[in-house]
Amino acid sequence: MRVVLLSLLFLIMPGSGHGQCSSVNTTFKKNQRTLLDLLAKNAPLQDGFYNSSVGNNSDQVYGVSQCKALISSNDCTNCLKLSIGSYDGCSEFSEMESMSSACTTKISNKNIIGVWTNSSSATFGNQGLDKPLVFSKGFSMMQDLASSVPYQPLMYQAAEIDVGVDGERYGLAQCGRDLSKLNCQNCLEDVLVRYRSYVENRTGWEILGSSCSMWYSNVSDAFNNQEVSVTALTPSALPSDSDQFPPGKPSVTSGN
Ligand SMILES: *[C@@H]1O[C@H](CO)[C@@H](O)[C@H](O)[C@H]1NC(C)=O
Ligand SMILES: *[C@@H]1O[C@H](CO)[C@@H](O)[C@H](O)[C@H]1NC(C)=O
Ligand SMILES: *[C@@H]1O[C@H](CO)[C@@H](O)[C@H](O)[C@H]1NC(C)=O
Ligand SMILES: *[C@@H]1O[C@H](CO)[C@@H](O)[C@H](O)[C@H]1NC(C)=O
Ligand SMILES: *[C@@H]1O[C@H](CO)[C@@H](O)[C@H](O)[C@H]1NC(C)=O
Ligand SMILES: *[C@@H]1O[C@H](CO)[C@@H](O)[C@H](O)[C@H]1NC(C)=O
Repeated sequence: MRVVLLSLLFLIMPGSGHGQCSSVNTTFKKNQRTLLDLLAKNAPLQDGFYNSSVGNNSDQVYGVSQCKALISSNDCTNCLKLSIGSYDGCSEFSEMESMSSACTTKISNKNIIGVWTNSSSATFGNQGLDKPLVFSKGFSMMQDLASSVPYQPLMYQAAEIDVGVDGERYGLAQCGRDLSKLNCQNCLEDVLVRYRSYVENRTGWEILGSSCSMWYSNVSDAFNNQEVSVTALTPSALPSDSDQFPPGKPSVTSGN
């Protein structure tokens, strides 16, 4: 219920214009702003990942930003600046997040650093379909990535598989580096199970999560050629209790 209310508020507030934005510069808001700037500045310098916290006691905010592995630090900076820059600086939400193909950010008044949060979404391109055998080979490759990514130093890995006359399939998977190896693996396996039937037979898809993400394509350079598609930082409830959304309900979007 709380989720719905926050979303409605957010929809209404920006429409009322900056002039009506509460002019009270609370410590909490200042801390949010400081934290977002820290994340946008440091993630590109730290191989695309940064976690930090600003403030004390009830004014403390925690945040994690991550860019897609393999994109340049410039693309990382641009993505974070755009998604974070869309925050109007007025709203005082306890939890906000942004998930787009090139970068994700979550901030909260709870300590979410190191916590497996499982909001996620999946998309596929509108191209063709693969034969089931090709799909299952490619999907196995992604399942293998789910077990090996946790043991990579930067918690990401790319893979490639030859599927015969149909060419190659390419995969990339990554976790937030604040996650434990176990949670990383659980997170990746969880999204694969959750979205399997949705991405079935697709030649290209991506699953974006606030803790882990995966990309799959039949095109080799699909992962570093980043078109700028950025989602704004918006209020959101990071599922930490099981009494919110029906657990694991995917906010699936399709198309391209
Ligand atoms: C609140 O603080 C931020 C940064 O410290 C500043 O940019 C902004 O203008 C301030 N807003 C008001 C209404 O004082
Ligand atoms: C961010 O994460 C690192 C380890 O990944 C940890 O050492 C550091 O204390 C964290 N920062 C904050 C503010 O929690
Ligand atoms: C948090 O508390 C410490 C110690 O009292 C103080 O130095 C620091 O400025 C405070 N940070 C913020 C953002 O209020
Ligand atoms: C990737 O798949 C799409 C849709 O099936 C197809 O149109 C495209 O030619 C494929 N690209 C490569 C490099 O195989
Ligand atoms: C995938 O392809 C197989 C064989 O054509 C078909 O039976 C199955 O329904 C397809 N799955 C989806 C989700 O379209
Ligand atoms: C969501 O994440 C928690 C860990 O924070 C996990 O225990 C739970 O199973 C996840 N929920 C779903 C539906 O995957």
